[in-house]
Amino acid sequence: MRKILVVDDDAELRMTVASALTEGQYVVEQACDGEEAVNRIKANAFDLVLMDVNMPRLSGIEALKEIKAHDPSIMVIILTAFSNIRDAIEATRLGAYNYLEKPVKSDNLVYMIDLAFKSQNMVKSLSYSAPVFNLPSGNEFVGQSNEMKKIFSIIDRLARVDTAVLIRGESGTGKELVAQSLHYNGPRKDNRFVAINCSAIPESLMESEFFGHEKGAFTGADSRKIGKFQYAEGGTLFLDEIGEIPASMQVKLLRVLQEKKFTPVGSNREIEMNVRIVAATNRNLESMIKDGSFREDLFYRLNVLPIQLPPLRERKNDIESLSQYFTEKFNQRYHKQIRGIKEDAMSLLKSHRWPGNIRELENVMEHAFVLEAEDMISVDSLPEKIRNSAPAVQHIDKMAAGSLSFEEGDIPMEGSAMSFRLSVQKFDFQASKEEFEKQFLMEALKVFKGKINQTAIHANIPKKTLLRKLEKYGITAKDYND
Ligand SMILES: Nc1ncnc2c1ncn2[C@@H]1O[C@H](COP(=O)(O)OP(=O)(O)OP(=O)(O)O)[C@@H](O)[C@H]1O
Ligand SMILES: [Mg+2]
Repeated sequence: MRKILVVDDDAELRMTVASALTEGQYVVEQACDGEEAVNRIKANAFDLVLMDVNMPRLSGIEALKEIKAHDPSIMVIILTAFSNIRDAIEATRLGAYNYLEKPVKSDNLVYMIDLAFKSQNMVKSLSYSAPVFNLPSGNEFVGQSNEMKKIFSIIDRLARVDTAVLIRGESGTGKELVAQSLHYNGPRKDNRFVAINCSAIPESLMESEFFGHEKGAFTGADSRKIGKFQYAEGGTLFLDEIGEIPASMQVKLLRVLQEKKFTPVGSNREIEMNVRIVAATNRNLESMIKDGSFREDLFYRLNVLPIQLPPLRERKNDIESLSQYFTEKFNQRYHKQIRGIKEDAMSLLKSHRWPGNIRELENVMEHAFVLEAEDMISVDSLPEKIRNSAPAVQHIDKMAAGSLSFEEGDIPMEGSAMSFRLSVQKFDFQASKEEFEKQFLMEALKVFKGKINQTAIHANIPKKTLLRKLEKYGITAKDYND
């Protein structure tokens, strides 16, 4: 629930304002002057502050400056007498959202708070992701890595056209979310989005699921039934796990894609269709084509416009915004007020390999929400597999430094021991290599105080590669500026 702080030296006014608000939606607390307000805000998270201007100890204007310096996302609405309107205008210049004249009318108050929260939401979702896609409620598409920004711009363009799309990516990378974004942001959005999980339908029923059947078409078909293609008319049909459909259905699907017509089982009437097909798979269709289990012609029909979703481990700087997003989602679901994730817990999240990608992160966050008793998620409330994903430490002495063209004495080492942690827990070459690269880059940035050019030259990495790797591992060079 949103938290509001009401600040005024007039106790009666505080009570009036608070009682106009409490009804149901908000947690309301009070402070009697600017100084108390600032202290409370520093100790506890608030979403919005309603504040008088003239108060003893610390004025509203001064308090506003401190609040905004502490957390610019807190919305501040100034309560002011008409004679002080100039102060109120000054306050909006300093970052207050707006002002209300005293005596405060409860309708105006509720309306303005509502607007303030709406704009706060917008700012928050903008900071998560480049565009804000329309999605069925409860979902948001989050990502700020370059990889995801590219995906967003592809979705944006593909939503407007009608071509088939094939979405590829490991399990849990957001394939269904992409399919929904394509549908709900395009001209078909007022018609249905129908998802079929091809791996969940037995082969014998698949044709009837897709195309429907006439009464008596086969044993058990005791009434006429329309199929998913017809149900999705005018909208989008999402064929999830397309790699799982049997050969017989592949031929039929190809025909539908080519001719935009199909025949229900047991019928002799063709039905025309106007449905956009979006398919998804995490299978390697190319090798399925080679071994004959997936038709090449169907592949090319579907693969007109492919979208490849990168796994989470290749866009680690999305982990922070995703976990922030899940924090808000679960705060609502579990009626909690968790403010964020402690630093050591966050670095564990960043070093995990996330084989289950975003779905796994979502589950981990939910697990932590259930267990966490404080208002920040700590290492102890993370599941064991994450706590254990901290790499086992093994030092590879100066040998590593030498072979990576660091010459001791050549550069200012300043106590930064050139040793690396190596993940030997699982004998996974890729994971160990990535862990090594990450440690190496952080160490090098430390030595060269975050200067990209120097780091690139001395560590013998092309600047482009360096920048790409920093992005990949979510390392910010500026953090090493000293
Ligand atoms: N970028 C994202 N921002 C917010 N939530 C996301 C994002 N990507 C995925 N999710 C969430 O993660 C979960 C898994 O996503 P989704 O079901 O789309 O993955 P998938 O690729 O279809 O997985 P699978 O191959 O297992 O079917 C969903 O709850 C989804 O809402
Ligand atoms: Mg899926």
